[in-house]
Amino acid sequence: MVTVLDNPIISHKLAQLRNKNTPPKIFRKLVQEISMLMIYEVGREFESEEITIETPLTACRVKILHEENFVVIPILRAGLAMAEGVLKILSGASVGHIGLYRDEKTFKPIEYYSKMPPNLGEKILLVTDPMLATGGSGSAALQMLKDKGAQKIIFMNIVAAPQGIEKISAEHPDVPIYTAAIDDGLNENCYILPGLGDAGDRIFGTL
Ligand code: PRP
Ligand code: URA
Repeated sequence: MVTVLDNPIISHKLAQLRNKNTPPKIFRKLVQEISMLMIYEVGREFESEEITIETPLTACRVKILHEENFVVIPILRAGLAMAEGVLKILSGASVGHIGLYRDEKTFKPIEYYSKMPPNLGEKILLVTDPMLATGGSGSAALQMLKDKGAQKIIFMNIVAAPQGIEKISAEHPDVPIYTAAIDDGLNENCYILPGLGDAGDRIFGTL
């Protein structure tokens, strides 16, 4: 259930994200752009509806998506910049927020916020978080959504570690993961190697 979106344009932008000299202003823009490119690829799986519309000349059968059936759910904070990119493409989606941070000593996720639109069980949820490291935060977020009735979830990351993929695949085998890269592993502080550092800090300039 893991798809690596290593389209050359995405990889080119990811290369710039990884560079430690890329400043927050550019970093944020790149995360948004990568997310726009990723949702284009993820969208290949979406079900369209065929309807008839009138062009200025004649009737025409067209395929449409019901954007209101999508909910974009950033895991705070770093997921916010990805959500902005996805919402540029699916602007009719609603937005839910999950606040989680990793405890710096135990690396376990701590929940501090959650606000969701209604009827989650009828929607397609696009959960965004650029970093999938141990998988603790992602797994907790997905469980939180399932506890609220979510049925159809897609998890979008930019950089994933094998450990995180293993955890999500074991605990949420029904959730497809899309990532721009699978890296080598984690360091002693559970940061992804080679990774791109602390995504939240680099997006928001809080280094
Ligand atoms: C980062 C990242 C993920 C999490 C990944 O968030 O954005 O949510 O760590 O690590 P895990 O897979 O080991 O759980 P962080 O806790 O740094 O919070 P922030 O986005 O507010 O900076
Ligand atoms: N969170 C990040 O922001 N970066 C990592 O490498 C791991 C967790």
